[in-house]
Amino acid sequence: MSVKQVCKQGQLKHLLTMEGLKRPTLEQVFATADELSSAFSSGQCPPLLSGRTIINLFFEPSTRTRNSFELAAKRLSADILNVDLASSSTSKGESLLDTLWTLQAMHCDMFIVRHPESGAAHFIARHVDQGVAVLNAGDGRHAHPTQALLDLYTIRHHKPDFGGLRVVVVGDILHSRVARSLIHGLNIMNVGDLRLVAPPTLLPEQVEDLGAEVYHDLDKGLADADVVYMLRLQKERMVGAHLPDRHEYYKHFGLTSARLKLAKADAIVMHPGPMNRGVEIESSVADGPQSVILEQVGNGVSVRMAVMANILSGTTS
Ligand code: CP
Repeated sequence: MSVKQVCKQGQLKHLLTMEGLKRPTLEQVFATADELSSAFSSGQCPPLLSGRTIINLFFEPSTRTRNSFELAAKRLSADILNVDLASSSTSKGESLLDTLWTLQAMHCDMFIVRHPESGAAHFIARHVDQGVAVLNAGDGRHAHPTQALLDLYTIRHHKPDFGGLRVVVVGDILHSRVARSLIHGLNIMNVGDLRLVAPPTLLPEQVEDLGAEVYHDLDKGLADADVVYMLRLQKERMVGAHLPDRHEYYKHFGLTSARLKLAKADAIVMHPGPMNRGVEIESSVADGPQSVILEQVGNGVSVRMAVMANILSGTTS
């Protein structure tokens, strides 16, 4: 059974992946995020999710995603539950579906799921009751759609003409759900020029299908970039030797202030976090004037408010 994530008129039912989304749906999320961000800044956030129950179900660690979903839900007046999986019955061997159905029996409108296995969010979406939404907050190497939406939202704020942009994504593309979702998102937004820079061992098979130009030399890849997006080395997902060592990686693929000069003078630097300073990015760049890394984090709350409002506005509690 497949899972349909978009209803008629582009409204979201679930959000599991960026694949299959259309540009107007993304534009609608961005416009709602703009409105909700302004409303929050003026102290007038509407209680759009009052009476709704949202459950954060995180089977992997998270700082940014979990907390920004929680803040987003609270700002829209939802009830949000953070399930502590270490002290829940999953630690006594309860299956994923039994945990899910148990929580669903308490009445829940939306599950926000992070899981180490690719496909876990789709699996859960196939097994929840009709009317319960599932948001993928990162599954294995597969997808992290709200990260892609907040990244695109941040780019749009600084450089709204996607068609005229050169975006360079650097690092561990092979293991990165962030990269996969961002690449899909940039293609949906018809980005002008997309470059992927990585050692051959950190690129997926059939990388040519991703609609990007591939570079193994960071200096060449950075030339005249408008957006430089650095990825974290996903040591926890590496099986076997993908890299000589971290020092060697930094020498060839680390973003230093000297290297950043190869990009356009007004290029922005992005990173999804958590960062490995001195491995993929120099601290002076991460904290420097071209960095929008903390802006990405702040935008995550607005974009997640917009996504939850989009989904739950089409359902009844
Ligand atoms: N970017 C991101 O997913 O960060 P967390 O793992 O802290 O949620």
